[in-house]
Amino acid sequence: MDNHATQQPFLTDIKTLRDRARQNLGQGAVTAAYQGDVNKTIDILQTVLATEIVCVLRYTMHAVAATGISSEGVKAEFSEHAREEAEHVQEVAERINQLGGKPNFNPSGLETRAASEYGHADNLIEMIKENLVAERIAVEHYQELIRYFGNEDPGTRSMLESILVVEEEHANDMHDLLIAHQGKPMLSA
Ligand SMILES: [Fe+2]
Ligand SMILES: [Fe+2]
Repeated sequence: MDNHATQQPFLTDIKTLRDRARQNLGQGAVTAAYQGDVNKTIDILQTVLATEIVCVLRYTMHAVAATGISSEGVKAEFSEHAREEAEHVQEVAERINQLGGKPNFNPSGLETRAASEYGHADNLIEMIKENLVAERIAVEHYQELIRYFGNEDPGTRSMLESILVVEEEHANDMHDLLIAHQGKPMLSA
């Protein structure tokens, strides 16, 4: 099996991405004096925004580029996910705006602001794997952020909770597709 050889670079990337996802968290929770940390919240949400934009781009590209036998169902799934990631982009951008920030849609540096990667898959299985990895990182990151915001910012927390439910569905969808097309689950990331 060549799985280890192909997965090792992936695992390195995951560590880097997780580190990046966490770098804005710092120590402890947001304080009760919310105003003092609003800029930090906005910074965190800019990372979430970049993550969601990268997910829109990756799924959109995959939906167009996926080829091969039985790819039609997969392409439809990628398209649906792209639409849902676009809804997340909108929600997060609105929240940043509500908090007094300016949502950062600047394409320059986008991927380095994100906790997910655009990817470089060139076949169906690799696309599904990249999406599964991205979704698992998103789930882990958003769970962490939900705990971080706790009761100090219920508005941001509940938005992230609703997004999290969709990301969990996305991860499940990709896992199911991987089993359907590859016949076995990916090693846990
Ligand atoms: Fe999303
Ligand atoms: Fe997703």
